Amino acid sequence: MKQIKIVTVLSVLLSFCFFGSSSLADSKGIIKYRQNVMKATGGHMGAIVDILKNRLPLADHIVDHARSIQQNSKMTLAMFPKGSGLGDTKAKPVIWENWSKFESAVKAFVRESAKLAKVAESGDMEALAKQVRATGKTCGGCHRNFRKRD
Ligand code: HEC
Repeated sequence: MKQIKIVTVLSVLLSFCFFGSSSLADSKGIIKYRQNVMKATGGHMGAIVDILKNRLPLADHIVDHARSIQQNSKMTLAMFPKGSGLGDTKAKPVIWENWSKFESAVKAFVRESAKLAKVAESGDMEALAKQVRATGKTCGGCHRNFRKRD
């Protein structure tokens, strides 16, 4: 009888460990994914700035970079499912504690990067530089509130 009890307790404990580690393992995939998409977004922003700052003869690339940022912005909300705040991530728990505020930060990013793609299509370089800054502000605004510092 006593042995059965011990076995039960042990199996409950073990299943706990398994559950714990399997949800961590699940998060690992999504965390890596969102970090990769964020890195890509950062790469496209950096590429636009490089073209503008160094006056590279690649102005016709800007539209594609801007469109890629816009595409990524539309993926952003879904990259932060509930429960993906544990593990090797800089996402702050406040994302899920204050989801509507996070959602607004994503919306601002979606809105400004849509404008960025439009302005890029227009070819107006002055307006573009302005809109790059406006879009960058939505990155910084979200990072300030929702991303841990190094
Ligand atoms: C709505 C919030 C939000 C917006 C908007 C946002 N980010 Fe992020 N970003 C995050 C969070 C949260 C992380 C941390 C993700 C993690 O570690 O799981 C992150 C991580 C990153 C990283 C680091 C990725 C890595 O290697 O780990 C880069 C680069 C980045 N963002 C660039 C950008 C750029 C550029 C923009 C705007 C064009 C942007 N982000 C817009 C929330 C946001």
